Amino acid sequence: MPASVISSHSKKATGSGTAKGSVETPRSTGEKRLDTTDAPVLVRFKTVRARSLQLIEHLSDEDMVVQSMPDASPAKWHLAHTTWFFERFILRERSPGYEPFDDRFDFLFNSYYEAVGARHPRPMRGLLTRPTLEQVREYRRHVDSQMRGLLSQPLDRDVDALLQLGLAHEEQHQELLVMDALHLFAQSPLKPVFDPEWPLPSSGRTAEFRHSEGGWARIGASSTRFAFDNEGPQHRVWLGPFAIADRLVTNGEWLSFMCAGGYRESRFWLSDGWDLRSAEDWQSPFYWEQHADRWFQMTPAGLQPIDPAAPVLHVSYFEADAYARWAGARLPTEFEWEHAARTVQGLEQLYDTAWQWTSSSYGPYPRFRTAAGAVGEYNGKFMNGQIVLRGACVATPPGHARASYRNFYRAGQRWMFSGIRLARDVDQPSDDPDPEFMSDVLAGLARQPKVLSPKYFYDDRGSELFEAICETPEYYLTRTEIGMLRRVAPEIVSLLDDDTVLLELGSGASVKTRLLLDASSRLSAYVPVDISPDALRAAGERLRADYPSLTFLPQVADFTRHLEVPAALEGRPVLAFFPGSTIGNFDHDQALALLRGLRRRLAPGDRLLIGADQVKDLETLHAAYDDAAGVTAAFNRNLLQRINRELDGDFDLPAFRHEARWNATFSRIEMHLVSTRAQVVAVAGHAFSFEQGESIHTENSHKFTRDSFTHLAAEAGWALEREWISAAPSFGVFLFRAR
Ligand code: AVI
Repeated sequence: MPASVISSHSKKATGSGTAKGSVETPRSTGEKRLDTTDAPVLVRFKTVRARSLQLIEHLSDEDMVVQSMPDASPAKWHLAHTTWFFERFILRERSPGYEPFDDRFDFLFNSYYEAVGARHPRPMRGLLTRPTLEQVREYRRHVDSQMRGLLSQPLDRDVDALLQLGLAHEEQHQELLVMDALHLFAQSPLKPVFDPEWPLPSSGRTAEFRHSEGGWARIGASSTRFAFDNEGPQHRVWLGPFAIADRLVTNGEWLSFMCAGGYRESRFWLSDGWDLRSAEDWQSPFYWEQHADRWFQMTPAGLQPIDPAAPVLHVSYFEADAYARWAGARLPTEFEWEHAARTVQGLEQLYDTAWQWTSSSYGPYPRFRTAAGAVGEYNGKFMNGQIVLRGACVATPPGHARASYRNFYRAGQRWMFSGIRLARDVDQPSDDPDPEFMSDVLAGLARQPKVLSPKYFYDDRGSELFEAICETPEYYLTRTEIGMLRRVAPEIVSLLDDDTVLLELGSGASVKTRLLLDASSRLSAYVPVDISPDALRAAGERLRADYPSLTFLPQVADFTRHLEVPAALEGRPVLAFFPGSTIGNFDHDQALALLRGLRRRLAPGDRLLIGADQVKDLETLHAAYDDAAGVTAAFNRNLLQRINRELDGDFDLPAFRHEARWNATFSRIEMHLVSTRAQVVAVAGHAFSFEQGESIHTENSHKFTRDSFTHLAAEAGWALEREWISAAPSFGVFLFRAR
């Protein structure tokens, strides 16, 4: 194997007992071949060997000889070397009377095994025009037929372990073959295509952070399935609480980093990284090219336009680290990554897109020992000067990866499919402003009329004030809805099937949820979705104690962007629950999109139980949104306080008056903060002027009729099943079924 392989892939010394690969890692990309990790040994052998040849289907003989850089190897060399591995370590050692195909191949196709002897220099592999490709194919056929003979007999444990190692080794080279061919083709002005059906990185939303409590984490592979030696011994590591991104950093986010001077400002970079960036003049990820103001990237499917919503690929550790610093985050340690992969719900793109840089140096686990003999050189001798990457990538063969898998590269390497999953410390909240809050506020105050999003009301103080609003005599919504739910919950749950999953949007303290849980044992799983990990944790502690048999799968997410029933509950009936008339805080298009998105994620027959406040006399409405004790006014003004604190604002709070206005055109109560005088306010170094009487529009609370609401829901694919509308002050609870 070349030093590229030396530096890039885990290599195991001995298998572990019955040595089987893992099936923990389903792939979502268009892999045509079967995962055979659990198949009988001969089937697995034939499938893995055949896959190497399938990979080169679209390559010409010339493509397979050239070496585009010292780290890469020609495809022909990969085909020969993986064959040599079986010949050298199994047939020659364990098959009595086996005659080597060609004695000279030990010199040509030994990668780095000192114990085997001298070898052809790695950077000169591209000069090996002989043996010809046809001779290498013949070599493969010869070794395959000898191996098939061996495998048709019962295998010793240690031969089986070597076989599993040889197969995992060939799978590693299959990934290398793709990487190396991509590097070769990227040098060609013709930008050849490696595989016309190669899946392009999938588009999607940007990441959200998910919380992990940390604690004692089990790290490493257990001994029941095949794993490389560097994945053990299994041991425990203490982790503090942390947050980890549920998706990878996107090209769009990377473009923002570039626009913000990411490649120009040394302050984001490690010193060695900055030197390398300067020496090699990095301006973008490895395979990016700019043509007429548009960015493209080289992929196995040829040169493709950059998709801003797809994950960024082919970045070095130095770039990943600089990006993380710029984004106010960090890279996860390899232990955080592994623990999160095993325990944090909803992490996407773990194994199907890009290897993910960690901040961990590649080293031995406690009590790690290399095995005796040449194959003991597989992994252990590379444990210095490299960084661990976790997960797997689009080029990793099916079934090859697992949560404990440790890949490793040098910090400056970029030709592998490498990407970024960010992490954050959660016990020390960052002093840096939330960039989304900052940009929304700056954009909103620059608009005419000025506007701020109500989603920013709910910092700690805002959440307390909202609870206090619900206690005011004027704010009838919460009280009325709770009274109705208490009354109608038995009827609602009598309609449900057994084993229904309760999915709550914006669950907060889960108070109303209890009314449903108490009314039925048909609800066997509860999935609260909330943006606040603290609220979920607190609610979880209480609910777990009171409902011990309930499966509790909290999701930290902004439900307007990301809503999912965990895979473990797929196929079960769902009751989505969205109380409080929060739907009224969205405008018509947003509400429609939200209800449609929910409908799409659920199956026909699933249900939605939703609260929607009703149109009523203006006096009642005004009072509810402008209570006599001034709690709602304080709630509204708290948004300015939050801007002052988090975005370095200088709002003079008494100079802004709270106002609740009825807007008949849109059938909604609006909340405003009205400037009582002409003034200039600074936020994050930007000045905003206010005329006397000019307002900031902070919230809409739409009020519905029975018909307007059922019509909205129908447009989103929901058919009315039952409805309950209270006596004055009227509030509606609606049960819909997915059509
Ligand atoms: C959360 N939401 C349904 C409340 C409402 O009535 O629109 C927020 C609120 N605003 C002022 N008072 C309460």
